Amino acid sequence: MDKFRIQGPSRLQGIVRASGAKNAALPALAACLLTGDEVTLSNLPRVQDLRTLRRLLAHLGVESSGDGETLTLSARGEGSLDDAPYEMVKTMRASVLVLGPMLARRGRARVSLPGGCAIGVRPIDQHLLGLEALGATVRLDHGYVNAEAARLRGTRFRFATPTVTGTENVMMAATLAEGTTRLENCAREPEVADLARLLNAMGARIAGAGTDTLEIEGVSALHGARHSVIGDRIEGGTYLIGAAISRGDVTLAGAAATDLAPLLEKLAECGCTVDVGAQGIRVARSGALRPRDVITAPHPGFPTDLQAQYMALMTQAEGMATLHETVFENRFQHVPELMRMGADVRAEGGTARVYGPSALSGAAVMATDLRASACLVLAGLVAAGSTEIDRIYHLDRGYEAMETKLAALGARVERLTGAGTPVPVEH
Ligand code: UD1
Repeated sequence: MDKFRIQGPSRLQGIVRASGAKNAALPALAACLLTGDEVTLSNLPRVQDLRTLRRLLAHLGVESSGDGETLTLSARGEGSLDDAPYEMVKTMRASVLVLGPMLARRGRARVSLPGGCAIGVRPIDQHLLGLEALGATVRLDHGYVNAEAARLRGTRFRFATPTVTGTENVMMAATLAEGTTRLENCAREPEVADLARLLNAMGARIAGAGTDTLEIEGVSALHGARHSVIGDRIEGGTYLIGAAISRGDVTLAGAAATDLAPLLEKLAECGCTVDVGAQGIRVARSGALRPRDVITAPHPGFPTDLQAQYMALMTQAEGMATLHETVFENRFQHVPELMRMGADVRAEGGTARVYGPSALSGAAVMATDLRASACLVLAGLVAAGSTEIDRIYHLDRGYEAMETKLAALGARVERLTGAGTPVPVEH
C-alpha cells in the first residue's frame, strides 16, 4: 500500500490547475449508457474512481477509448449484461449511477447495493423511490437492487432530502420516460447542473438545472454528444486551504469561483486575501488566522467534502472554531489522526470544536476516507518534521497526481510505494 511522506513545515506558492471534477465525471460516464451513439467526454480527471467506473461500464458492454483525460464511450453492445456485481460496486458508491440509465434504456437493471467511503449509513432509498415513481418495479434481494420497467412514465416526485447522485440517477432515467417529469427538492450542486448540460447536448429536454426543481420532458431516444466536464471545486478548494494553512499564496486555475463561494467567503472572514482574476482564484495569507465556525449543508452551503480540510486549517486559528457536520454522520474520522499530530479537537456527534492554534508535529497517521486523507496532507504541510500518511489509496480515488501538484507548489512530499521505496516527484 502506498504512503505519502511529507516534510514540514512548508509554504505553498504558485499556480495550480484543478483537474476535471470527479463528481461531474462519474455521472457523465454513466450517462453514456443512455444512447447507442458515441459520447466523447473531456477534462476528465485521471483518478481511481473513474477507472473503477470504466471497468464496470466495460462489464456492461460499453466500449471506451482515449487517454483518460478524454474518453469516447459507446454503449452500442446489444444483448450485453445488465448486472453490476458486488465485486465491482463495493469499492465505490457512485457505481449506483448506472441504475437509472440502464433501467431507462434497457428496461431492466440489477445493481449491487453500493459500498464506498465509510462515512455513515448512506442509504439509496431516494434513488429507488424516484425510480418507482417513474413506474419501475424495484425489488431488493441478496444485496442487489432489481429494477424493471417496459417504459418509464413521466411523474411528479419530491426527494425527501436533496441527494446528489439520487437526483442524477432519477434525472437520467426521466430523460427517456414517456411524458414530463417534475422533480422537486433536487440537489443544486454544480455537478448536477453539469450533467444536465451533457444530457441536453444528447437531446434530452431538462429545464431548471442548478435549481431545486427540474422539469424533464421525456424523449424516445438520446444521441451522441461531446462534453467537457467542469473543474473540481473540491480538489481546487483543498489547494486553496493549503495556501491558507501554510501562509502561502496560491492561484487556482480551472475552477469556477461561484462554485467555491462558500469556501472563499469563509477564507476571507478568517483573514485571508481572496482575489478572483483572469488567472484564477488567488488565496494568500500573511497575518494571523481568525477562527470561524462552519456548518456543512447541501449546495450552496459549505460542502461536506471540504469539512475535513477546513478542520486542518482551524487547528492553526487563534481561538476556537465549531464545525457542525449536518450532511453525513460519522464524518470526523480524521479527528483522532489530527490529534496524534498535536491538534486539540473535541468531537461529539455531529459537532467538533477545534481549539487553535496548535503546533503540529509530524507523525505516522492513517487515511480513513477520501477527504480525511486530504485533511492529513494539509496538516502535514504545517507540521514540524516528517508525516507519513498510510493508505493513500483513498486519496488516489479522487485527487489526480496530488503529490506532483503539491511539489510544484513547493511542498516536500514523496510517494512511498508498497515496498517503501520513494518515487521521485516530477515538478
Ligand atoms: C455525493 C458526492 C459526495 C458528497 C455528497 C454530499 C458524488 C459521486 N459524490 O455523494 O462526494 O460528499 O454528494 O455532497 O457525487 N441520502 C438518503 N437517501 C438517499 C440518498 C442520500 O437519505 O437515497 C442522504 C445521505 O445519507 C446523506 C445525504 O442524503 O445524509 C446526502 O447524500 P447524497 O447527496 O446522496 O450523497 P452522494 O450522492 O452519495
